[in-house]
Amino acid sequence: MKRENKTSRESFSSSFGILVALAGSAVGLGNLWRFPYLVGENGGAAFILIYLAFVLLLGIPLLLSEFIIGRRSQASARQAFKILAPDGHWGFTGLLAVICCTLILSFYSVVGGWGIEYFVKAVKFDFTNASDETLSSMFSTFSSSTWAPLICHTVFLVVTAGIVVSGVKKGIESFSKIMMPVLFVIMTGIAIRSLTLPGGGAGVEYMFKPDWSEVTGKTFLAALGQAFFSLSLGSGMVITYGSYVKKHERILSLSVQTALADTAFALIAGCAIMPAVFAFGISPSEGPGLVFTTLPFIFGKLPMGGIIAILFFFALLLAALTSSISVMEVIIASAMEEFKLKRKTAVTAVFIGIWILGCLCSLSLGPMSGWKIMGKSVFDLFDYLSANVLMLIGGLLVVIFVSWKLGKKALHEELTNGGTLKIPDWVIDTIFFLIRFVAPTAILIIMIFQYVS
Ligand code: PHE
Repeated sequence: MKRENKTSRESFSSSFGILVALAGSAVGLGNLWRFPYLVGENGGAAFILIYLAFVLLLGIPLLLSEFIIGRRSQASARQAFKILAPDGHWGFTGLLAVICCTLILSFYSVVGGWGIEYFVKAVKFDFTNASDETLSSMFSTFSSSTWAPLICHTVFLVVTAGIVVSGVKKGIESFSKIMMPVLFVIMTGIAIRSLTLPGGGAGVEYMFKPDWSEVTGKTFLAALGQAFFSLSLGSGMVITYGSYVKKHERILSLSVQTALADTAFALIAGCAIMPAVFAFGISPSEGPGLVFTTLPFIFGKLPMGGIIAILFFFALLLAALTSSISVMEVIIASAMEEFKLKRKTAVTAVFIGIWILGCLCSLSLGPMSGWKIMGKSVFDLFDYLSANVLMLIGGLLVVIFVSWKLGKKALHEELTNGGTLKIPDWVIDTIFFLIRFVAPTAILIIMIFQYVS
């Protein structure tokens, strides 16, 4: 199958632009909301070390694999597999990615909406001296109410759509180029403040001194799910962004840099949160409410806490937006190519669909909480299905596709840009081994374990 209008395909304008867009997608609520509470629920440093091992052994090979598919095909997730393997049923993998992103964006936009509400609360200094009980009831009352979260979800999705509709260069790249450095500076500042709190050392110890006795099979599953979610793997994001990358860019170093940026950011977020949690003698295993109840409590007590709260929730919003635009772009790019739609039309249609699903997610935590599917609320189901099922299956299919269907020659071609870059053979051999054997085996073992238990 020949691709039409190849010359008019949008693209990023520079290597820096690609990197901030990729890192922007990776760094998000996964780092600021999910990572800290998973660390807290799974016993701290041991979880972090397992997580780091997954990022190194599976994360980078997977980023690279998706990059190869996207750049080689110069097509959206939905079309890429059909173009590279027109003879098989691989197109299905692209469809899975689109479904996965649809689920992610639906609940992501709801949590992004919570971020808006909490940013506004921070600006009004609502947390100052509030008690722990006040704050946890503030969060549960808000997230389970009908209208306020729906309005916030709508605003968040409108902003996301507004950026995506401007296109790859003018929308996604320009936004990420400005916001990612801002985000980095704010979070580093908050981490330094937190690390210098009296008693904060216990939080650092919790994050970096492993207690292996707490590790169970569940820890591995949580760490793998988090590595996938945080690096946006198996969701078609890197395929989509990779398709906007020109042939001379170095995809190996871009993949490594993306993984490094995301991991550094998760650790910075941990250093911003854990020392403060320990300094105030709070249990780190608060679960998903950690960022929305525990942190406001701490902000309410800290000197200058009001300002730090504003900065933190502003950072959270930026991080969420640079990710949500990437999730939406996967769906938009696929819809535009599949149905030959204009960007504006695709964004409008996708906006409406996701808005409705997001409303269901939000309502499932309140007025519709009695309505369960497989024992879960719609919100939890979407989170679970995407991070623990679809992204893993997507990732598994991607590594199988690249290593068995495209093969080592294609890997070599893409890594060396057709022989123009010098990359030692052992590096390519190791990466191929990781993609072909280690990644699929590890993903399979963990998936089987998950379903059995
Ligand atoms: N990686 C993003 C985060 O950490 C979430 C995401 C998942 C983005 C899948 C794109 C695709 O918040």
